Amino acid sequence: MNQYSTPLLEAARRYLDINHAPFYMPGHKRGQGIDREFMALMGETMFRLDLPELPELEEAVNEAELLASAAYGSDRAWFLTNGSTCGIQAMLLATCGQGDKVLIGRNCHKAAIAGLVLNGATPIYLPTDYLPEFDLDLGVSPATLESFLHQHPDAKAVLLVSPNYFGVCGDLEKMAAIAHSFNIPLLVDAAHGAHLGFHPDLPISALQAGADLVVQSTHKVAGSLTQSSILHLQGDRITPEQVDRALQILRSSSPNLLLLISLDVARRQMATNGKELLSEPLRLAKEARSRLEQISNLRTFSQIEVPMLDPTRLTVLVDHLGITGFEADVWLHSQLDVMAEMPTLNQLVFILSLGNTQADIDRLIFAFQQIAQDTQNTQNERKKKKEKLITNYELRVTNYQSNLTPREAYFAKSDRLPLEQAIGRISAESLCPYPPGIPLICIGEEITAEVVEMLQCILRSGGIINGASDESLETILVI
Ligand SMILES: Cc1ncc(COP(=O)(O)O)c(C=O)c1O
Repeated sequence: MNQYSTPLLEAARRYLDINHAPFYMPGHKRGQGIDREFMALMGETMFRLDLPELPELEEAVNEAELLASAAYGSDRAWFLTNGSTCGIQAMLLATCGQGDKVLIGRNCHKAAIAGLVLNGATPIYLPTDYLPEFDLDLGVSPATLESFLHQHPDAKAVLLVSPNYFGVCGDLEKMAAIAHSFNIPLLVDAAHGAHLGFHPDLPISALQAGADLVVQSTHKVAGSLTQSSILHLQGDRITPEQVDRALQILRSSSPNLLLLISLDVARRQMATNGKELLSEPLRLAKEARSRLEQISNLRTFSQIEVPMLDPTRLTVLVDHLGITGFEADVWLHSQLDVMAEMPTLNQLVFILSLGNTQADIDRLIFAFQQIAQDTQNTQNERKKKKEKLITNYELRVTNYQSNLTPREAYFAKSDRLPLEQAIGRISAESLCPYPPGIPLICIGEEITAEVVEMLQCILRSGGIINGASDESLETILVI
């Protein structure tokens, strides 16, 4: 296939010149009725191309999906305009239902828990490995997967996250082989992996590793617009009809054309020029790591051996400066105009992609030099104060008590209780530090003293908890 062609971009260009009388949606009619201030800000073209699924465009979407499937090496691809959230839910809805077991990495995104509310399946959560010295989630190991599959050979699917927020991909090839040896499909949330497989210095993609269904947020690390993702299918453990049926339920009947076009051009970039485009963020990340390590008390992951770590993901540990990642984050963006992707208690995570420049890296390094200098005199004092928080945080929740399925819990009658009185009760909501959006407690799980302590610790140190019906977290909904 000609990966230089862009059927959606070409169709859109043809539509730009067509001046029909528009008696279809959307109501602004190609910008004629749009707010003038908004038009002045955004420009006319965007509105002229905000079109519904006209017949010629529908054909172009099919062609663009075929090109994407060939570029990424799948058997079938579906463009999504509601992010990987929609793809994760489709994977779960396509493969399991009420009464079925599904093995899920406990570092899954909250979208997976929502998928379980939709399909009614029983999650068997797989614990992840953890490197305390670097506060690093290593994901599910092949040994853990194998042992859980021996205990639950009747599971209908395995869902893993790869790469995770820190770029840890894990040995997916091994995991796929293990799942397949039990004749169970491997579903992969590769929201952070749309660039993998296009450069030899990057880990292989989930599709190359043999996964059956894979969703990628093209918008997160490749060149498409926010909310645009691609869902891929390979092999015959799952049929395209199963996926189509699930998407019928989940997808909007009005997909945004601009998002679809952006997927088409992002695919062209990766397929025709991916290696060259990705060489730059790889080079920049390498340079950033080596310059950051020259700043005293800053650490990155280059000192550790992590299987299949995406080198474009840059994590900087600030704990030895005696500050939290949350404090460093506020400092970086309020005083030095540098925006990280994610702060945690001990780290800051930066996403480097084809859009970053040398100037961005220079600003990042300058910012950390400033922080290191400003904290120098107070580091010991700060470290002492922070120790308590770190110890609390390292009390990782490893014993997940799941008493009701997420669906049962979602539809059960719930009461609101003060957080501390809720210990021992079953949560009627999922609470996630955001980012990364991994629930500390999932709907249907028992609320333990450990979880309450961790939630309070994160809030106290400046983190954000998403999903709580009471944002102050003074109270929580329980079954
Ligand atoms: C691991 C993971 N999966 C899924 C998602 C959801 O993806 P999207 O924002 O494309 O819906 C995210 C979002 O941050 C994520 O980090």
